[in-house]
Amino acid sequence: MRIIGTNVPRKEAPAKLRGQALYTDDLTLPNLLHGITVRSTIPRGTIDSITFPPEIPWHEYTIVTAADIPGRNMVPMFLEDQPLLAEHKINHPEEPILLLAHPDRHALHRAAAAVRITYTELPPLFTLEDSLAQRQIIWGQDNIFKSFLLETGNLEEAFAHADHIVEAEYHTGAQEQLYIETNGMIAEATPTQVTVTGSIQCPFYVHRALKIAFNLPDEQVRVIQAETGGAFGGKEDYPSILAGHAALLSLKSGGRPVKIIYDRAEDMAATTKRHPSRTRHRTAVTRDGLLLAADIEFIIDGGAYATLSATVCSRGTIHAAGPYQWPALRVTSKAVATNTPPSGAFRGFGAPQALFALERHMDLIARTVGLTPEELRRRNFLRPGGTTATGQLIGPDVDLDALLTRALEASDYHPKTARFARENPQSPIKRGIGFATFMHGAGFTGSGERYLNSLVGLEGTAEGRIRVLVSSSEFGQGTNTILAQVAAESLNAHYDLVDVAQPDTAIVPNSGPTVASRTAMIVGGLIQKAAESLLETLRLTAFLPANHTPQDLHAAVAAYVAQLGELKAYQRYEAPENIFWDDAHYKGEAYGTYAWAVYVAEVAVDTLTYTPTVTRFDALQEVGRVLHPILAAGQIEGGVAQGIGYALYEKVVTRNGRMINNQMTNYIMPTAADLPPIHVHFAEHPYQHGAYGAKGIGELPMDGPAPAILNAIENALSSLKPAHPFNTIPLLPEDIFEALTLLPS
Ligand code: MOS
Repeated sequence: MRIIGTNVPRKEAPAKLRGQALYTDDLTLPNLLHGITVRSTIPRGTIDSITFPPEIPWHEYTIVTAADIPGRNMVPMFLEDQPLLAEHKINHPEEPILLLAHPDRHALHRAAAAVRITYTELPPLFTLEDSLAQRQIIWGQDNIFKSFLLETGNLEEAFAHADHIVEAEYHTGAQEQLYIETNGMIAEATPTQVTVTGSIQCPFYVHRALKIAFNLPDEQVRVIQAETGGAFGGKEDYPSILAGHAALLSLKSGGRPVKIIYDRAEDMAATTKRHPSRTRHRTAVTRDGLLLAADIEFIIDGGAYATLSATVCSRGTIHAAGPYQWPALRVTSKAVATNTPPSGAFRGFGAPQALFALERHMDLIARTVGLTPEELRRRNFLRPGGTTATGQLIGPDVDLDALLTRALEASDYHPKTARFARENPQSPIKRGIGFATFMHGAGFTGSGERYLNSLVGLEGTAEGRIRVLVSSSEFGQGTNTILAQVAAESLNAHYDLVDVAQPDTAIVPNSGPTVASRTAMIVGGLIQKAAESLLETLRLTAFLPANHTPQDLHAAVAAYVAQLGELKAYQRYEAPENIFWDDAHYKGEAYGTYAWAVYVAEVAVDTLTYTPTVTRFDALQEVGRVLHPILAAGQIEGGVAQGIGYALYEKVVTRNGRMINNQMTNYIMPTAADLPPIHVHFAEHPYQHGAYGAKGIGELPMDGPAPAILNAIENALSSLKPAHPFNTIPLLPEDIFEALTLLPS
């Protein structure tokens, strides 16, 4: 390999370093108007009246309501329940009702605040418990967006023969994506052409949404991704709403361009977050620590509309059983409605919630039966020949024992466990070490990739350069670099002469959304195949000799284009033959492959301030194949940082269903100063259908930190006998204070 596995310069770095990269708010157009959203102040009810007090010169403003939508008033996701603008019913605080545009950005806030809306309020639901109990019916017949059932083996018999039945309940909070760049969009719209440019993760999702809202055919809608400063799932579905809003204002303004940029407070209060969850585990186990059966109930709070909750719930359901062999298993799961802003995609997508519960529960089972956390897991790991929760066969390349051994050695787990137990009694700082073993399915679940039917292209230019044509988006994670590496390696081209086209739905094919750890593995794999067909074209037309050098390749491309014209090769997704999925019974190959990991956290808890600090972190991750060591390690380090925030810092506080700490001064995330040394270790078992063996990397780092850290905190504080186990995140100092100082309730 010349390029794969090396740290080539990042494609997008020079423009970012020189300040030349243009983010949405850096872009301007002649005659630009600025837009703002007027939002509901109540969680649930109906709109009685909207009035415009005379102190504002309203004739200067463009005003848009739901009545101005030329097509359907609907944000298309899995279900068609969410309006682009509320017409009559209000289902959550901060729901968009009305849009304003004006040439002066600073005039907008005063105008938006002046619009008077009166409501008839209805009783709201704010928690998944109240939603499950159906204290009100706020969505559909039963408040349930989606439910799943996974079942194997004979549960009753297993529980009847168990030596121990271990039960506990786990909770995880909402989490804000906190991309550096807030949501933003610029639109130009006439009755026959809508064009938007913005901070976007999935251009073709926005494309579809605009076609529906404006009732236009494919070619009359164009979506362009501007430079995008982070996404983490938070720009997967929401930009469809923002694009619709900006385009509606533009249409009503006679086609003048309209820009909407959310400030941080609006972005945090109004857009999606990670689904809060509750997981109940009931486990049957023998006195030797053999797992007999798990009965798992997994509930997530989807907020007011369905958005992506079904997918998040599905992924959580499949990951709830983790990397263990269960003779009998039942997972029941539900995504339920509450009157809060809709929950959405966020790195990991249901798996972090389910795996937090499972990996905490494994430590509880170990304590109950009197085994170490390590020994309990070793007795129950999935091994070659075993099957996952959906019946997927484990291949010979999976070796969790070896991964665990390596991770525990790399982190000095055993000597440290002994040392902390010895030193803790004399110290006001209690130290602990804990770990989590887990996996994450790469790519869309089940038949997802088949339905997506992704298409990628490679183009040769007149200058002899290569252009990668995909809708996959760079937002800081390295997509452009990785895809250019794959193209350069498989064409035997110069990396510097490979470009990745800006995602623009008028130019690039639909290679699917940039989500679900699928881009390097699946889109990269398609580029590898497209390269073969491009080479074949050049060879069949005799422009390219056998055993070509990079120089030959670029000369051949230039000569081909000069003499024959356009040179393009496309590759469509073809499902690997061994993948079978039964959507009705949720059985089969849930994912083309899984990646596996062991994460070890070391903590210190100050018993004067009750502050927990992560002092060292070791992340051992099996990734198929490392395509770019620095980017791969960066994904893991960044994800661990986000996981530390999820576990110990980031608490969404709400009142009446609305986030009230929607600023970075009081929604606390860890900064570089709060982070420990993060040691990244790779294991490589190439996946035959991934680009050069690559599997997804990006989401596992969100799954492991929270349970590893709480396992470590429990280990640190075990001698102090906390009043209750630490089964809820975020775990803040006040929670530790309460557990150590209050009597058991
Ligand atoms: Mo994602 S949470 O698959 O963008």
